[in-house]
Amino acid sequence: MTAAERVAVALGRVPRMRLATLPTPLERGADLPGGGRLVVKRDDLSGLGLGGNKARKLEFLCGAAVAAGADTLVTVGAAQSNHARVTAAAGAVLGVETHLVLGGVAEEPPAGNQLLARMFGAHLHPAGTDDWGELSGALAALVDELRAAGRRPFAIPMGGSDAVGAVGFLAAWAELAEQCTAEELRPTAVVHASSTAGTHGGLLAGRAVWAAAGEAAPDIIAVDVAKDSDDLAGDAARLAGDVLASVGLGDVAVDPALVELDERWVGPAYAVPTAAGDAAVTWAARHGAWVLDRTYTGKAFAGLLSLAEQGRFAPDSTVVFWHTGGFPAVFAPGGAVVPDATPAVPTPQIQEIT
Ligand SMILES: Cc1ncc(COP(=O)(O)O)c(C=O)c1O
Repeated sequence: MTAAERVAVALGRVPRMRLATLPTPLERGADLPGGGRLVVKRDDLSGLGLGGNKARKLEFLCGAAVAAGADTLVTVGAAQSNHARVTAAAGAVLGVETHLVLGGVAEEPPAGNQLLARMFGAHLHPAGTDDWGELSGALAALVDELRAAGRRPFAIPMGGSDAVGAVGFLAAWAELAEQCTAEELRPTAVVHASSTAGTHGGLLAGRAVWAAAGEAAPDIIAVDVAKDSDDLAGDAARLAGDVLASVGLGDVAVDPALVELDERWVGPAYAVPTAAGDAAVTWAARHGAWVLDRTYTGKAFAGLLSLAEQGRFAPDSTVVFWHTGGFPAVFAPGGAVVPDATPAVPTPQIQEIT
């Protein structure tokens, strides 16, 4: 059996709700500074409430919720959580009540992801804290409250990053491999933002299946944008193993030597913009009209550009940037890079006709 066939059979073993628009486009982009040709995996176009990587995880999380007979989705995230917004979208599509425990205080008026989450009909519960441990505690308390009120809540962890959600990125890996084969692309690396390790873990699981089948596969370079986990790389490796076990591929081993996390780009803290991230946002906007955000994709793309400049990628190689979405945050206060200068274009002399 090929690796792709193994994954297809494995995915058939777990419940899934078709919520995302898949496959997402694989778009050829500009040459990178220092070498390598950029290809962008457009998960920002994954549909479901303006898309992003969480749509993939929610297909499996909602599959599990429906299988469990849940009537309420409950999750948790930062004030401008993309994951919370896409969960609200999933709740709207499935017609189930959705509750979101969010960092910070209530935004009035709401903007970006909070605005969309409210449009999708979710109940927002600002927790008054940004501490991720306290937020997870607030999620557990809300689940208890809902249960006591007679509801059947399904709790989804921060970022949708458990073994159920991360299966979405095992499927995503197979999707990318199929596209690369069809387009005769052999990427040397896939680069993406990592915050709760679910995307990374799912991709690592996919790569491990390819390695076990003796099939060539690109490196996976995760760029840490969170710094809240003590061991984000370890979390990803653990999740990869759990994903494989959960779909009946427990015989496939994840090589810890292939778990690569670049921790140089997060800056002072999660969601605090950096100069390198902002420069990367501008580069992407002006080379492919890709809209990156300052919390996730901008910092990850800064890592990619830097690796290219340092010569990590051979001149004739192909590098995939996994655009994990997040653009609604651009429309929240402080979410956008305000370009310091518009390229100067000479103003034409307008001749007056007399
Ligand atoms: C736009 C965006 N990119 C990347 C990530 C990171 O994904 P993960 O949480 O699976 O590491 C997130 C999730 O928080 C996100 O919203």
